[in-house]
Amino acid sequence: MQGMDVHLDAMSITYPNGFTAVHPTNLAVKAGEFFSILGPSGCGKTTILRAVSGFVAPTSGRVLIGGQDMAGRGPNDRPTALIFQNLALFPLMSVRDNVAFGLEVRGVSKRDRHARADELLHLVALGDQADKKPGALSGGQRQRVAIARALAVEPSVLLLDEPLSALDLKLRSHMRAELRAIQKKTGVTFIYITHDQGEALTMSDRVAVMNRGRIEQVGTGDQIYSNPKTAFAASFVGEANRLEGRILHAENGHATIRTASGDFRARNPSHLTVGAEAILFVRPEAMKIGGGVNSLPATLARRDLEGAFVTLHFRTQVQDMSLHQTNTGAPLPEGEVQIRFDVDDAFVLGNGQIAETGQELAAQ
Ligand SMILES: Nc1ncnc2c1ncn2[C@@H]1O[C@H](COP(=O)(O)OP(=O)(O)O)[C@@H](O)[C@H]1O
Ligand SMILES: [Mg+2]
Repeated sequence: MQGMDVHLDAMSITYPNGFTAVHPTNLAVKAGEFFSILGPSGCGKTTILRAVSGFVAPTSGRVLIGGQDMAGRGPNDRPTALIFQNLALFPLMSVRDNVAFGLEVRGVSKRDRHARADELLHLVALGDQADKKPGALSGGQRQRVAIARALAVEPSVLLLDEPLSALDLKLRSHMRAELRAIQKKTGVTFIYITHDQGEALTMSDRVAVMNRGRIEQVGTGDQIYSNPKTAFAASFVGEANRLEGRILHAENGHATIRTASGDFRARNPSHLTVGAEAILFVRPEAMKIGGGVNSLPATLARRDLEGAFVTLHFRTQVQDMSLHQTNTGAPLPEGEVQIRFDVDDAFVLGNGQIAETGQELAAQ
């Protein structure tokens, strides 16, 4: 099996009722990559997969797979396979026959398709389960049968639409590792859709963050976590404390923002200018106890033990802020204390929603 690259070239999708689920989008997924599209429910993830797999045609723009324009080619005529949340395994067929089903449809001989099915079942660590019925397997095993079945037709691109969301938490984290291993072994391009940032960050080579029909950022998990390009990406990927305000000074990649809790300095990666509505973001692990630059008074409201680290929830004059610490058993702060963060551990980003309203007002 060999992965192929997938390109969206200014592709948009407007449904017949006039609703635009995907605004013109450019995207380049590399051959053999584990690529995730991450975003909240309703942002257009499934619509993109439908377009790649050929169940819906682009309203404008193109889908290219392996450099070829897919226009006019239906789902069975593309080098893709699709796995949904609902697996739809055949309950009365053996696991082997389930995996071999797609090959039977294509007229592959019984001997060859069974040999191929057994090879794939071995790949997904189910070599000894071939004669069982799906009902006799666990949820995670059934998931792997579905993957083997999808791989049987030798797709170059495997499209996975929230395939783990029906599984319980423990199985889900186990299957993350399994999926990643299967992808590496086969070299097939995986496009994986999820609203779960943990899934996207742990499995993927790269992630696209999607919001309201638009891809806002593409990058590795580390890049998106450390350098989110939009307020949405900063809020949706990982936890972040937010302080809303307006830019007071901006110079040399840094800015001072005036908020209801005071003035703070932070990185200014998108070069916001004085007067812009903005949000300062600071991750809980960057928060410290102590006074000085970028500090504000706070009182401890709650301590959550998370095992190796603790989350301290502070109340400040305006809002709650959280702080992660390694669990050293140090005494908890009592009464009013100062909490702070370093200038380079925080960043300001434009407050998209307010800017939009501003544009609308300006256009009137
Ligand atoms: N057939 C359809 N006709 C009209 N609107 C649709 C159709 N399918 C989906 N939508 C709308 O398009 C948006 C994106 O849907 P979808 O791609 O399923 O989102 P996601 O997979 O991210 O949850 C949603 O607002 C949804 O209601
Ligand atoms: Mg969906």
